[in-house]
Amino acid sequence: MFGARIAGTGYHVPENIVTNADLTRFMDTSDEWIRERTGIRERRWVTRGKDTTATLGAKAARKAIAQAGIAVSDIDFIIVATLSADYYFPGASVLVQRELGLSEAGTGAIDIKAQCTGFIYALSIASQYVQTGMYRNVLVIGSEVHSMALDLSTRGRAISVIFGDGAGAIVLQRTEEPGRGVLTSKLHADGRFAEKLVMPVPGSHGGYHDDRIETDTDWQFKPAGEWGDFFVTGQMLNKALVYPYMDGRNVFKMAVQKFPEVTIEALEAVGLTVEDIDLFIPHQANLRISNYVADKLGLPPEKVWNNIQRYGNTTAASIPIGIAEAVQAGKIKAGDLVCLTAFGSGYTWGSVLIRW
Ligand code: UT7
Repeated sequence: MFGARIAGTGYHVPENIVTNADLTRFMDTSDEWIRERTGIRERRWVTRGKDTTATLGAKAARKAIAQAGIAVSDIDFIIVATLSADYYFPGASVLVQRELGLSEAGTGAIDIKAQCTGFIYALSIASQYVQTGMYRNVLVIGSEVHSMALDLSTRGRAISVIFGDGAGAIVLQRTEEPGRGVLTSKLHADGRFAEKLVMPVPGSHGGYHDDRIETDTDWQFKPAGEWGDFFVTGQMLNKALVYPYMDGRNVFKMAVQKFPEVTIEALEAVGLTVEDIDLFIPHQANLRISNYVADKLGLPPEKVWNNIQRYGNTTAASIPIGIAEAVQAGKIKAGDLVCLTAFGSGYTWGSVLIRW
């Protein structure tokens, strides 16, 4: 078995800044409410026609590849974690492969759809490829364009103010140095909560009323569609099923429980404790969640990397953006123990420990 270390990091966010004050043009909200409940001051949204999930991802990837000091052609495999791919299918990863000029090489590429935990799942999968010797350099990207599907009316304000666009990438590389790189990864999911944070349409479920699904909203209905035409209907558009739905309180309650739980599980698996962590990079769900989790774990603020204030919640991109920023800021040095933990839609949650 080999080790799998992070050899290069990079991120790219759109230049278009959307402040909380900007959002008041669309909906009944306020800078004060958003800052107080989420910690967010501003987020980035792509300019339509300029960037997509794949182009943001490819831009972040090029920086990570340059930092790793390798050529694009050295990349053996591409994994893109995203819930907002350019197309319903194929995934964003093949478009990233095309953007990077790796099509003729036939480099393998897959998407991972595990929402806010997407990057943790992707990194864990990549580490298996590298550790077993199957690949030497795996590109792992988290990229999201949320601004394509946000209900900007007051109806959608509890969720639309949270999300932002952006991408982060790492090159995961084979190493023969003992004890270096990914030490462990712990991954979990609980599908009973799938509808607590969901974008129901488009999908094969078709928004259909399902008695087995417990929901406190009216997002399910009996569609009138026939075979072949219930993918996106006018009725679905009227009911805003093409936008994400979130039971924010339930997400909050579960997140503050699962974040610490899985972090401890990962530490215990390799015989380490919270005191051994040099930098904790949590998925940026909500600043209140990150602060609560840090407090519960007993981590001082200087050991926690947060960027939700500037980018909002960028789902699968928030952790790799955080890693790249922390490296750039000189917050991570060789030998440090870096802990990445996420929780989100699915529900899914997980934690990865890396010896830098
Ligand atoms: O990666 C995982 C992604 N999701 C999360 O991490 C979300 C976790 N949950 C949360 O962060 C919080 O639940 C929210 C920030 C989403 C919402 O905070 P909350 O304290 O749970 O608020 P709430 O939804 O219970 O709403 C409280 C009030 C309501 O008004 P009334 O009924 O008390 O009059 C809402 O209509 O705040 C109102 N409200 C808003 N007001 C101004 C909801 N959204 C907004 C808004 N601006 N954007």
